[in-house]
Amino acid sequence: MKRILTAALLVMMMLSVCLSAQAATATQTGTGVTVIKAADWAATYPEVYASYEKNAENEAVIDHVEEYPMIATVYEGMAFNKYYNSARGHYYTVQDVTNTGRPHALANCFTCKTPDFTAKVNNEGVSAYTIKFEDMLAEVNESVSCYNCHANTGNELVVTHTYLADAMGADFEKLNAETASCAQCHVEYYFAPETKAVTLPYDSMAAMHPDAILEYFEEMQFADYTNPRTGVKQIKVQHPEFETYMGTGSVHASQFSCADCHMEKATTADGKTYASHYWVSPLASESIQASCAGCHPDLKGFVAGIQTKAEERTVAIGTKLETLTNKLADAVAAGTYTEDELNAIRSLNRKGQFYWDFVFVENSEGAHNSRLTNECLDKAEKLIDEALGLIK
Ligand code: HEC
Ligand code: HEC
Ligand code: HEC
Ligand code: HEC
Repeated sequence: MKRILTAALLVMMMLSVCLSAQAATATQTGTGVTVIKAADWAATYPEVYASYEKNAENEAVIDHVEEYPMIATVYEGMAFNKYYNSARGHYYTVQDVTNTGRPHALANCFTCKTPDFTAKVNNEGVSAYTIKFEDMLAEVNESVSCYNCHANTGNELVVTHTYLADAMGADFEKLNAETASCAQCHVEYYFAPETKAVTLPYDSMAAMHPDAILEYFEEMQFADYTNPRTGVKQIKVQHPEFETYMGTGSVHASQFSCADCHMEKATTADGKTYASHYWVSPLASESIQASCAGCHPDLKGFVAGIQTKAEERTVAIGTKLETLTNKLADAVAAGTYTEDELNAIRSLNRKGQFYWDFVFVENSEGAHNSRLTNECLDKAEKLIDEALGLIK
């Protein structure tokens, strides 16, 4: 009985979501737009604006290098190995990118931090990506804001980061607008070697799978950096929340948008409902948890169970990756291996690190799609073990 009820409920929910879902649309480019600032919308949308301002409370920073000591070795050769702090609120993006402690020569670092840069790219095209960081900083007024997700409409959802539309191809129109809104930034990307333009490593929904992304990088022989001791050409994965949540194995992908779990429906004192723009974990919102309670009476405990397992495996496999890095560095230094032998180990190391990173830098710690998370960890572990087996 309970199972039948759950199934019926699922179907009903999916239907209602399908009926109300709005398809994604992208902005026009080359239009000479001036960004309307968040504060300018305060009078029109006072509740939304107040909830948006609340993001200032999300100010805690966790130093990942202290929390995960293996990354000092795994990310050696790129500045992330010394400065890698946890994500905090949208409110601090400009401040955080300016103070990373990592070098940033170009304005392309502002891509997911401020609408002022998004508008600059839309007005001027890809040449904006190579403006000097400091020159762009002088033009920046605010962190992630209304323009990023609504263009200058104030309430319609518009994709202003057009590389997302490019990467989705014909699938773009099938994308739910609320999910597309977050996918503008919560994605894996790379800077195209020639233009330095932000580019997503796929051209359709199906090609978003980590296997396909790795193949894409293999084909173009892309590397973000080379590990100085091992010579491994490494790929630095970045926050693939969209790819993970929408990926094969996801339980809720066809049912809930990112906003359903991260933006609560709030109510004013006089009964008006609005979408809260205070972006938080669903575990920090009583009303979101209440909407899940029919199927997840203890969402916190359920999520903690998934995350604990994913975290344990991530740390264990990351530690193996650290061992591999050190052993391979010794093998290179010893001079007793042929270049072909070393390259075989390097290739396994590169791929193993990619799958591990795909999980490590995803911000839900397994909760968005535990099946895909485990699949990546299985692949990482197999590749790393194989590489270790080749070291005499
Ligand atoms: C990171 C993306 C993002 C940013 C930034 C953003 N919004 Fe939204 N906004 C959304 C999404 C997604 C929805 C739809 C949420 C839903 O229906 O659950 C939405 C809905 C709305 C609505 C629809 C009415 C409602 O309350 O349901 C208004 C109005 C609105 N936003 C105004 C603003 C204003 C004003 C700002 C700047 C202060 C802003 N938004 C910044 C993503 C964003
Ligand atoms: C314009 C880029 C951009 C868009 C669009 C965007 N985000 Fe973010 N988001 C970021 C960045 C950058 C961070 C990390 C902030 C930092 O520490 O610098 C972040 C962090 C977060 C966090 C972590 C906050 C914390 O306190 O730990 C959540 C939750 C989040 N985003 C949810 C969303 C959701 C939901 C959407 C879509 C409605 C969305 N984001 C759209 C750029 C964006
Ligand atoms: C079915 C609900 C659900 C959906 C839909 C969902 N998430 Fe999440 N998300 C979670 C849970 C659960 C966590 C883990 C929260 C925690 O650890 O407190 C999480 C964590 C996150 C975090 C880290 C938040 C933090 O506080 O550190 C970000 C960022 C995020 N999600 C972005 C997204 C984006 C972008 C999408 C859409 C592509 C999305 N989420 C869709 C449930 C969801
Ligand atoms: C109609 C029932 C139903 C509702 C409502 C529902 N869920 Fe789920 N959820 C499920 C089922 C079934 C699973 C799969 C459980 C499993 O794998 O053991 C699941 C899995 C999950 C997972 C783990 C995903 C994974 O890949 O392991 C998260 C996180 C989650 N739900 C969050 C939420 C949140 C947040 C809400 C409310 C916004 C919600 N769910 C509402 C039925 C539901």
